[in-house]
Amino acid sequence: MTSKDRAILKIGDQSWDFPIYHASIGPRVVDIASLYKQTGIFTFDSGFTSTASCESRITFIDGDKGTLLYRGYAIDELAEKWDFLETCYLLLHGELPDKSQAKVFRENISKHNTLPEQLHNFYTGFDRDAHPMSMMCGVVWALSANYHNSMDISDASDRMLACMRLIAKIPTLAAMTYRHHIGEEFVSPRGDLDYASNFLYMCFSGESKEYSVNPIIARAMDKIFTLHADHEQNASTSTVRLAGSSGANPFACIAWGIACLWGAAHGGANEAALSMLEEIGTVDRIPEYIKRAKDKNDPFRLMGFGHRVYKNYDPRAKIMQQTTHEVLEELGIKDDPTLAVAMELERIALTDEYFIERKLYPNIDFYSGITLRALGFPSSMFTVLFALARTVGWSAQWKEMIEDPKQKIGRPRQLYTGETVREYVKEEER
Ligand code: CMC
Repeated sequence: MTSKDRAILKIGDQSWDFPIYHASIGPRVVDIASLYKQTGIFTFDSGFTSTASCESRITFIDGDKGTLLYRGYAIDELAEKWDFLETCYLLLHGELPDKSQAKVFRENISKHNTLPEQLHNFYTGFDRDAHPMSMMCGVVWALSANYHNSMDISDASDRMLACMRLIAKIPTLAAMTYRHHIGEEFVSPRGDLDYASNFLYMCFSGESKEYSVNPIIARAMDKIFTLHADHEQNASTSTVRLAGSSGANPFACIAWGIACLWGAAHGGANEAALSMLEEIGTVDRIPEYIKRAKDKNDPFRLMGFGHRVYKNYDPRAKIMQQTTHEVLEELGIKDDPTLAVAMELERIALTDEYFIERKLYPNIDFYSGITLRALGFPSSMFTVLFALARTVGWSAQWKEMIEDPKQKIGRPRQLYTGETVREYVKEEER
């Protein structure tokens, strides 16, 4: 990054200049890394609304236009024309695979899809009704114990192997989490099935009933994975990068990402959105909820609506809405009342001044719950499916960070507004 353009900062009669870098697309950035050294002041940006925390080549979002690109390819094209594993290859390697590269990649993922035997015992430590996301955090974390001593994160092939292991094992782990949750035996992965079909098979196959994978449903699952694969520097990805910046084990870093994703303002919104739609129940109750969402004295928000970056329709939500219709049609679900509520709620919100003014549109989580419920998952599993798909994004971003020659440990500063130095007061005198 070099630049002749400079930004001038003027405080009183003193001024300093800082380099401006040009993005390949998107806003320019002012490099203020030397600000404190030069001026003795910090910047303040709670929630990082104007701060680029890294340089990246992986994913680009144009929030005003509502576009999302993985390595330059539009999400709608990827979701339609490529499958999830090809998208994983693209995110990790920077290019789509040719036929033989795709074949080797699929074989490698298949080779690594089992869990170390001792991790099976880990599940018995969790109550059946433990939230699946808490199990996911725990078991992914535990993987770091298996792959620590043998792994050198300064070695490129070890880094790629760690990413491959994560992508390969995460569906097995998510399916085991589901099976433990519902009190069923684990089902071993099958090497003859594609990624999404194998995941559905591990979730839904029973001893007495062999699950036969419906290719249309498997394709919808695969598309849902692609839609969630990466989303540049969101909260969970930034968590993974920050954790990894200290040189921590990548499996542990992904577990931190899963923990961050769980929150209702992030990945947990898919679970919250469905329960909101179910609570609304019928279209005649929508105005009551719209009124609550607009009331500043009510903490209620329309879940699955709004986004920090998208100030236009989330392109993933459009594809998700279409996938919802495809899945419901394939499963013969007609007149789904939750879908009717969702579509009417969207229609009303998009014509309401409050939502128009604030540029609040449906995000990916608005329709995903309806689809995932139709596929047979309980709402407690929704964020697990998001985590499964996002593992590739977290892995690619972790790898990119470690490979960045300018990479430093992340260490934000603060605006301290607490007490200044105080004298110690003895207990009897307080
Ligand atoms: N319902 C009602 N009002 C809202 C909503 C909503 N869902 N989202 C934002 N607003 C209002 C907010 O009250 C504020 O109004 P005002 O300017 O009058 O104070 C204004 O819009 C701006 O909101 P903000 O909280 O400053 O925006 P943010 O960028 O900090 O928050 C968000 C983004 C996604 C956390 C927020 O829109 C939200 O809580 N949405 C619901 C949860 C959700 O669907 N999350 C999933 C995000 S997409 C999946 C993912 O990436 O994880």
